[in-house]
Amino acid sequence: MKKVTITTLREMKRKGEKIAVLTAYDALFASLEDQAGIDVILVGDSAAMVVAGHPTTLSATMEQMLFHVQAASRGVQRALLVADMPFLSFQVTPEEALRNAGRFLAEAGAEAVKVEGGQHMAPTVRRLVEAGIPVMGHLGLTPQSIHQFGGWGVRGRDRREAEKLIAGAQALQEAGAFSLVLEKIPAPLAAEISASLEIPTIGIGSGPDCDGQVLVNYDMLGLYEQMTLKFVRKYRNLSLEVRSAVEEYIRDIKNGSFPSADESYDLEG
Ligand code: KIV
Repeated sequence: MKKVTITTLREMKRKGEKIAVLTAYDALFASLEDQAGIDVILVGDSAAMVVAGHPTTLSATMEQMLFHVQAASRGVQRALLVADMPFLSFQVTPEEALRNAGRFLAEAGAEAVKVEGGQHMAPTVRRLVEAGIPVMGHLGLTPQSIHQFGGWGVRGRDRREAEKLIAGAQALQEAGAFSLVLEKIPAPLAAEISASLEIPTIGIGSGPDCDGQVLVNYDMLGLYEQMTLKFVRKYRNLSLEVRSAVEEYIRDIKNGSFPSADESYDLEG
């Protein structure tokens, strides 16, 4: 088993080997994904939506994210573990960003952090990188700006915004980011950005020409039903499985077939 590092990812891009990324929020799923051979586990602030049931990611806090990263880190051996920095943990000042990012590495076992935002985030990214903290950028439909965007639509369709995304990608690479998530931007724009960078891009809803892909684990497993997204490929329909297992369990209790004698203890032996 060879541990995945940020150097591995850069090497994968150089060789044209695609990078597979999934989110995880706890030790159990992180361990299953790690055993399956995922390259990067992102503890996303999507936890606020898929775990905590909020409508956006904005309510995720440092303490909640530290809990999820600590849990996930106990399940990971091979994958690179990236902690998503929650809203307001990195936007106020680079110094505050550094303190908060440092907590993910020092207290929670993360090996890198992810921050949303383009060119304006470059000084913050540089500050973290200079302190020895690997940073993954995130451009396009950055969910922490959902109210600024006014919805979950595709970003970068007009040339002005596309140019801004291209400039943002260059600025984050120059500031020392080791990788960039490109979320929900047109496939040709994602291809153009990916080809222009030395660091790998990780796409989500941004077409096939990114250097890797990321999905929310509960989406691709068919567990999260609150949103239907065109770019999510559902590999299983686990919500159906869970509901039918629970229905069977309830039925067995009600009709007295659970627990059986084999599932009970005698006074001895
Ligand atoms: O929070 C998250 O899960 C993310 C990924 C979907 C990129 O940011």
